[in-house]
Amino acid sequence: MEYSNSKPRSLLILFATVFLIISSCRADPDPLQDFCVANLQATDITVDGFPCKPTSSVVSDDFFFSGLSAPGNTNNMFGSNITQANVANFPGLNTLGLSMNRVDLVPGGINPLHSHPRATELGFILQGEVLVGFVSTANAFYSKTVKAGESFVIPRGLVHFQFNVGTGNAVVITAFDSQLPGVVLAPFTLFGSTPAIPNDVLTKTFQVDQSVINLLKSKFSGSTNY
Ligand SMILES: *[C@@H]1O[C@H](CO)[C@@H](O)[C@H](O)[C@H]1NC(C)=O
Repeated sequence: MEYSNSKPRSLLILFATVFLIISSCRADPDPLQDFCVANLQATDITVDGFPCKPTSSVVSDDFFFSGLSAPGNTNNMFGSNITQANVANFPGLNTLGLSMNRVDLVPGGINPLHSHPRATELGFILQGEVLVGFVSTANAFYSKTVKAGESFVIPRGLVHFQFNVGTGNAVVITAFDSQLPGVVLAPFTLFGSTPAIPNDVLTKTFQVDQSVINLLKSKFSGSTNY
């Protein structure tokens, strides 16, 4: 009797725990007011987001952003450019829990392997044909060629890429459930940090010689951007 009673109870505890874990893994917290336009000049120490501008100095333009209307300059080693519309340049987004990017890719161009620690990404192919892929924590690779008008989703925090496999330029619009998703760009994080990760750590990690690490460091050091 007691045994058969304890089973549903432990199941309940299991479900409650899973629910708590899932609900604590949400993206940005809900706002507590209509808006809190970021005061990007504020020097106060803040834990989440930026302090609000006084409502008296909030203007319509705080809620508009034209930066995604033009392509970025793709004349770089990856043949791509990421134009960001996040709280850092679009102050009306502060506390609202979302942001967008525009990704421009020349034929053969790539938005290299990277992850967003604070957001899931929903992408829409505006133009072109793009191979999109990510790797799960179970090390499974999920990938598909996505065409104009089609969409994809990259679960939060997972390593992913977009690669233009079409014959013309590609444009991808991405939305994030964070006002500042953050980006960990694999090549720059591993081989271009300041100061650099010691070679011994990298040779042991990747099971290769110093020369391989030095070659990779020579390509990515001294920059957080490409
Ligand atoms: C992306 O494009 C912008 C606007 O043309 C440019 O200022 C920036 O340097 C480009 N970034 C890269 C990484 O090429």
